[in-house]
Order: sequence, then structure tokens, then C-alpha cells
Amino acid sequence: MPSQAPSHTPVMVVEALQCLRPHSGGLYIDATVGLGGHSAAILDAAGDGARLIGIDQDPGALDLAQERLRPYGPAVTLVEANFADLDAAFDEVGETDADGILMDIGMSSYQIENSGRGFSFTRDEPLDMRMNPETELTAAHVVNRYREEDLEAVIRDYGEERWAGRIARAVVERRKQGPLATSRQLASLIEGATPGSARRRRHPATRTFQALRICVNDELGALRLGLDKALDRLRPGGTLCVIAFHSLEDRIVKRRFRAAAESLEPTYELLTKRPMTAEDEVLDNPRARSAKLRAIRRAPTSGNADDSES
Ligand SMILES: C[S@@+](CC[C@H](N)C(=O)[O-])C[C@H]1O[C@@H](n2cnc3c(N)ncnc32)[C@H](O)[C@@H]1O
Repeated sequence: MPSQAPSHTPVMVVEALQCLRPHSGGLYIDATVGLGGHSAAILDAAGDGARLIGIDQDPGALDLAQERLRPYGPAVTLVEANFADLDAAFDEVGETDADGILMDIGMSSYQIENSGRGFSFTRDEPLDMRMNPETELTAAHVVNRYREEDLEAVIRDYGEERWAGRIARAVVERRKQGPLATSRQLASLIEGATPGSARRRRHPATRTFQALRICVNDELGALRLGLDKALDRLRPGGTLCVIAFHSLEDRIVKRRFRAAAESLEPTYELLTKRPMTAEDEVLDNPRARSAKLRAIRRAPTSGNADDSES
């Protein structure tokens, strides 16, 4: 449980609202409700009669979102789910489609600073990294049980880490003395295994921690499924807006949106030919540095085969 209610500054709120254009009476899905910052902004911008369904796979985040969004009363429904199961989340609340869907992927400050699950290499916590504590795979299992070549592939493919081979070798060597148990143990091992040049711009464990988190939570698989389902669930004129924090995610969003924009039925319009970024927010919110926002809108009147023949 969180030790205290942390604050999480939502990124690119203005840009997200520009794309989503919330309106009164609309139905909005925040597929990554986190601490509820974007959700509150959407409801404030929409005004009377709008409703919001907030989804998160982390029950700890949902507890905090519930507190934050309490003033909006019955306008908000919270659902514990993975956005890969967006259909189930819609079914649970008896809805079929929405005017706007937001995905602000990645971790919240609560998960990094207060969850105690080893997401940060600056803390000494058990190597867990599950966003949904009910799933089976933990970072400790990946680090202590994967074969060296599989661990190297995880670190290279999900962390785009140049020194993946060295790091995997050092982990396998070290675990002969007993399992690696905490985030700090892993971070200092990585520090020792990488050359000084790897430390210039960021902590040398940054990419490995990202890789483990992506692997443990199957983040890229969930994103692919979530995008397909979110595109299907847009009402005519509805918008899907996605904020991604690293190139692996952004590439998936870019490709899926391009494919959707080329489809004939339903038709979609790209609202961002290039991703929007948030340079002006970086001083206040370091998370903004790598944020990329892309949005796509379902055509207001999607012609179908019957319409075109009449
Ligand atoms: C960056 S935070 C969102 C912060 C939120 N926009 C705010 O303003 O507070 C990302 C949230 O998405 C959740 N999340 C990440 N992947 C998810 C998935 N596949 N399904 C559901 N929730 C997910 C995380 O648990 C986390 O709470």
C-alpha cells in the first residue's frame, strides 16, 4: 500500500485536451487512469453530463484515483483491468463505444516512488516490477532464472541496451553466489559491469530496468492489443490519444495509426502527422522529456458499403 498519497504531474494535458476535445454529455475512457490527473482535466474540460471510465491494472493506483476523482461523483467509474482487455472493461460497465480514449502509458510516480515494487534503481526494494500484483512473472524471476541468452535478449530488445551481453553475463556470474534480491543490488551490479562511457548521460541501469519492466508486464503486447481495441471502440468523430515514453512504444503507435489511417472502413484521420512533444514542460516535470503524443480521429460519418451503393 502507498505510504502516502504521492503527487503525479500529468504530462501534455493541454495537447491531450486539444486532441480529445471533451464535450458535455460525452463518454471518455482513461485507459491508464493512474492518479487521475488526466481524468480530472478531461472532466473539467467536458463540463455537464460527461462521464469517464478510468481503467488501470494496478489496484494501488485505482485507490489513489478514487480519492482524487471523488468530487466528480457518479460521473466516474473505475475498473481494474488491463487495457489489452478493453472489451471486458466496456462490458463491465455496459458501454459499447466512446467519444474519446486516452492512453498515457508507462509508470506513474506512485509506482516509482511509493509502491515498493522495485521499479526504481535509486531505491532498495524487492525486484518485483509487476503493475498488476496478481500476475505471475516478477523481475526477480527474470533476473535469477532466465538463461543468459534469454536475459541478454530481454535487455537488448526491450531496453535497446548496447551492453546487454556484458550485463547478462555479470548477472549470471553474480547469481552463482545466490539470487539477486533487490533493485539496488541489481543497479550496482550493472554499474560495475558497464564501461564509464555508459554512465555519462544517464544511470547505466536505466535501460535494463526499462527492459525488465516491459518484459514483466508484457507492455508491448498489451499496447498492440489495446490499440486495436481502442480504435474499434471509437464512436464516429471520436478520438484516440496516446502518450508514449520510449521509442519502442512510440513506433508501435505510429505504425498502428498509419495502418488505421489507410483503412477504408471505418475511416480514420491522423491528427498528428508527427508526434507532439513537451519540451516546455521538462523543467517542471522530468517525465515530459521523452513524451510523445499521437492522436487519431474516427471519421464523423464513416461511410459503409451499403451507404456508398445507395
Ligand atoms: C503514466 S501513468 C498514468 C498517469 C495518469 N495519466 C495521471 O494523470 O495520473 C500509467 C498508468 O497506466 C497503468 N498501466 C500501464 N499499462 C497498463 C495496461 N496495459 N493496462 C492498464 N493499465 C496500465 C499503470 O499502472 C499506471 O498507473
